[in-house]
Amino acid sequence: MRNVTLTDVFTHPIAQKYLGRSGIAHAVSVAHHAFRLALEYEVNPDLATKAALLHDVGHYEWYTNGQWDYEKYRENDIHAIKGAERAHKLLIRLGEDPASAKEMALAVLLHTDSYLPEGHLDKNNLQKVVRLADEADEEPGGNHHYRKMDYDLALRKIQALDQKVADVLKKDQRYKKSS
Ligand SMILES: [Fe+2]
Repeated sequence: MRNVTLTDVFTHPIAQKYLGRSGIAHAVSVAHHAFRLALEYEVNPDLATKAALLHDVGHYEWYTNGQWDYEKYRENDIHAIKGAERAHKLLIRLGEDPASAKEMALAVLLHTDSYLPEGHLDKNNLQKVVRLADEADEEPGGNHHYRKMDYDLALRKIQALDQKVADVLKKDQRYKKSS
């Protein structure tokens, strides 16, 4: 049983507001990569796909005189921190199990290390999967944030992914408890 589906997350107005900033196409495609990687790394695909869908919801718009300001973004960006908090709040609001919400928030927090101090963190497999899924969709110059996908197509892809996740959870008893 899943408390919260990808469709529940995707269609929520808060998710729509913030997913639009970093690109719906990117979020949907990272969620699909996360499904594939979750099976490879033996991670619960329910958590991996939802964390992946939400990984970039923390983006703030760095503009100077109406122009995207890359320097400002690079210096001041905390999208992983903000995203972890937003993702957690949304998941809890939708009725997610608190332990799962925490796991997903941490995976969002650690999906990039561009803002972290130097050093090594031992990431768990869920955290690795979300990071690798994001990297799998990255394009030079941040172009993955600008690819377009209309809402109806994105929703159909999310619903199809929900079905795949549900099929795995039905077959695989390991993920019963944590989902
Ligand atoms: Fe991303």
